[in-house]
Parts: sequence; C-alpha cells; structure tokens
Amino acid sequence: MSLLEAKGIVRSFGGVHAVAGVDVAIAQGEFLSIIGPNGAGKTTLFNLLSGHDVPDRGSVRFAGREITGWAPERIAGLGLARTYQHGRVLGNLSVRDNILVGAHHRLRAARPRLPGLGALAELVTALIHPPSVVREEAALADEVARIAALFGDRLTPRLEQPAYSLSYANRRRVEIARALALHPRLLLLDEPTAGMNESETAEMTTIIGGLKAEGHTILLIEHKLDLVMRLSDRVIAMDDGQIIAEGPPEAVRANPAVIEAYLGHRELGGEAVA
Ligand SMILES: Nc1ncnc2c1ncn2[C@@H]1O[C@H](COP(=O)(O)OP(=O)(O)O)[C@@H](O)[C@H]1O
Ligand SMILES: [Mg+2]
Repeated sequence: MSLLEAKGIVRSFGGVHAVAGVDVAIAQGEFLSIIGPNGAGKTTLFNLLSGHDVPDRGSVRFAGREITGWAPERIAGLGLARTYQHGRVLGNLSVRDNILVGAHHRLRAARPRLPGLGALAELVTALIHPPSVVREEAALADEVARIAALFGDRLTPRLEQPAYSLSYANRRRVEIARALALHPRLLLLDEPTAGMNESETAEMTTIIGGLKAEGHTILLIEHKLDLVMRLSDRVIAMDDGQIIAEGPPEAVRANPAVIEAYLGHRELGGEAVA
C-alpha cells in the first residue's frame, strides 16, 4: 500500500490549469523525484499534498487517512514535512529554535490538548518545570545536535545565531533540519539546491543521499538532473500541469516527450533546466 496517494488532482488559478488531473503515489521507503520546466505545476502539486492549498478536484490519502482539505499543521502532525522552493526560515529565531519548531509540531500532535484545560495545563507545566519537562528538553537538545551534525560544520557552530544572519545556503539547510525534526514519514523537498553553487549542490546531494540511506521516504522536486538521476528510484516528469512521463530515471530522461518539454524551454543537461 502507498504511503501517499493522490488521485485526479486538479488546481486552476483563473485560466491557468496549474495542476490538471494528476495521479501520484509514493511507497514507503521510496525516493521519487518530480522534474519539469518552470511553470509545470510542481510546486502547486506539493502545496496540494501538504495542505498549503486545496485541490479543486481530487483526493489525497496519506498514512491511511483521507487528508484532502486538512490544514497544513494537521497534515504535518501526521508526519508529512516539507521545505519551500524560496525558503521559509523564521529570521528572528535562532537556528536552534527554527529546528525546534519541527519538533514541536511532532510533540503537539502526539499530545493533543485537553479541551478547555489544555492552555492552563501547559502554563502550569511551564511554570513548575517538572522532571518530565526537563527530560524532554534534554532530549530535544540532543535531537537538535544530532540533526545539525548531519550538515557537517555548517549549522552546529551557528545554533544560537538568528537565522537572518545565515548565508542563503545555510538557511536552506536549516529548513531541511526543521523538516527532519518532525521525524517525518514523508519528506517533501522543493528544489533544495536552488541557488546553490556546484560544491554546495554536491554537498547537499550527499546529505539527501544519506537521508535516503537512512530509510527516509522522499518526494523531491529538483531541476538539477544529475542529482535526480543519482538518487531517484523513480521519476515523474510534468509539463503544463500534467504528467508526461513516469518511470525509472534513465527512461524518463530519454523520453522524447520530456526532451521536447525541456527543449521548449532550454537544453536538457546536467545543469539547471527547469
Ligand atoms: N497562487 C497562484 N496564483 C496564480 N497562479 C499561480 C499560483 N501558483 C502557481 N500559479 C501558476 O501555476 C503554474 C504552475 O506553477 P508552479 O506550480 O509554481 O510551477 P513549478 O513549480 O513547476 O515551476 C504557473 O503558471 C504559475 O504561474
Ligand atoms: Mg516550483
């Protein structure tokens, strides 16, 4: 059974059919990439899967639940984490707190508030600081350290710095770290290497490869095809809101419809084409 299954997804903006009837399923442990030229509908599809937008038609199932129309926080609580094409770190929060945002999504979902009593109970807990909270905070500090260490020495020395002070590439890394703190069952990455130079891209490829090796289920939007070819179990190519090819990476790259879609925009190669 699929971990995520979207059927007949449609989303239009005025006359623009951003996603025009897409079926996508991803199995537990799978690494699926979505490629396609700019404007193909990739990010819109992500938004529809993560609850940041609602499909005009179609349904989304995740982890055995029908989640169509659910709020993003609720879907995140079920274990779907994502990053954003243009990055969304909280600039005034420290790197540590940005990462903890992901962990708090998870903890809140695991510990639903008692109606009425919830806010008061939380306040009392914060004031008296019982041993269980101290233990939880220590566990979270370990967790942040472990996740930051996945990025070599990029984030660990900067945990107490405000996110706005980081380089662009480091802010992209923080976003992924935050997504990992959710302990996601499914990780959605929207162009994680956008704006990165060649060596930063190679470093990110290694990190994402490491996540795959750890058993993460990953849905990746990426236009650097060498990265896609190296990591993907399966590739979906989109154009004009539709899937134009789907299958093993090499077969999709060689598909005439895919080549034509790219040639309409720019040449197909290892560099940025989408
Ligand atoms: N919020 C929106 N309002 C209007 N048009 C949108 C909106 N989001 C996306 N679009 C349009 O939908 C199409 C697909 O966009 P997008 O999903 O961002 O493509 P991709 O991520 O593949 O580059 C584009 O034509 C884009 O301009
Ligand atoms: Mg996009």
